[in-house]
Amino acid sequence: MKAVITAVGGYAPDYILDNKELSKMVDTSDEWIMTRVGIKERHILKGERQGTSEMAVKAVEEIFRKSETSPDEIDLVICATVTPDHIFPAMANIVSDKADIRNAHSFDLNAGCSGFLYALDTASKFIEAGSKKKALVIGADKMSSITDYSDRTTCVLFGDAAAAVLLEPSKDDSVGVIDSILRSDGFGRRYLKMEAGGSVAPPSIDTVKNKEHFIFQDGRHVFKYAVSSMADVSVEMMKKHNISPDELDWLVPHQANMRIIDATAERMGIDKNKVMINIERYGNTTAATIPMCLYEWENRLNKGDNLILSAFGAGFTWGSILVKWGYNS
Ligand code: ACO
Repeated sequence: MKAVITAVGGYAPDYILDNKELSKMVDTSDEWIMTRVGIKERHILKGERQGTSEMAVKAVEEIFRKSETSPDEIDLVICATVTPDHIFPAMANIVSDKADIRNAHSFDLNAGCSGFLYALDTASKFIEAGSKKKALVIGADKMSSITDYSDRTTCVLFGDAAAAVLLEPSKDDSVGVIDSILRSDGFGRRYLKMEAGGSVAPPSIDTVKNKEHFIFQDGRHVFKYAVSSMADVSVEMMKKHNISPDELDWLVPHQANMRIIDATAERMGIDKNKVMINIERYGNTTAATIPMCLYEWENRLNKGDNLILSAFGAGFTWGSILVKWGYNS
């Protein structure tokens, strides 16, 4: 039995932080950001005590409306995030409460920017095993909550968003989540992390003073590994399933840097018009980038389309998933 995506929902907050406004905050320019990264604007969740779950719930409620699913029918919720509302309880528990989901077991999963792929793979296994019938897989991050807006090397990169998919057993075996290649290498933990706030360095006046509750990234190192790893696993997936560049309908890449996306597409030998790209309007929303692409491209997808989802992120974690799309919109 295969697991198939049957609905997609997404949400980005209204407030837009563009390059012009960022140029007033730090020493940067639209020209540098567009040339080196490819981002024009990011959506930011404003307001006191507004956490990632606010956005995730909106994405989930859209799925309920579109698919005419009732919250009672959901039996699994997996939330991929690096910015949960709290360290505990899990954001998936909070989303379930807010969305009135009472019959599911729910948990969070942290795999950096590869989180959605890890969560989709995990949920698929529950469906394939026959133990779950309707799973919500959510990718959501409020990156603005851990971004230092005085650090030009990171603050231009990130934005806030949430998106989700509904996963069900496929009645038609030819469509669904076909295969996953997921990898991690903890060696990468040096290059991309949030130093404090966990058990090693609980919050203190010093950790706040030292800005250890913000994203730390050695961009050059991460870039080097991201370019080769994302391309490697995507090409490996094509070879494993004998999919030629012509037969691949869509590459759905994590949106961290336009240059990483271009390099991945080039190694796969596919045309840019087959690549889902919205980094210019959202920036890097971590676990939300890939489902947000699916959400924005949903109307252009046809049953049977071959999609390769591909990501690289903190950990390091990376991977690719082959999906045969399950429906016409
Ligand atoms: N505006 C202007 N200049 C800048 C900016 C900026 N916003 N940021 C950096 N610079 C400067 C640097 O200070 C440096 O100046 P120097 O040479 O005088 O020291 C120069 O530009 C070049 O800096 P690099 O870091 O070499 O710039 P690079 O071309 O590598 O781009 C970037 C930086 C965009 C971060 C890139 O390295 C990158 O995309 N890395 C990978 C990001 C990624 O994939 N992350 C993984 C997912 S994130 C997650 O999992 C949470």
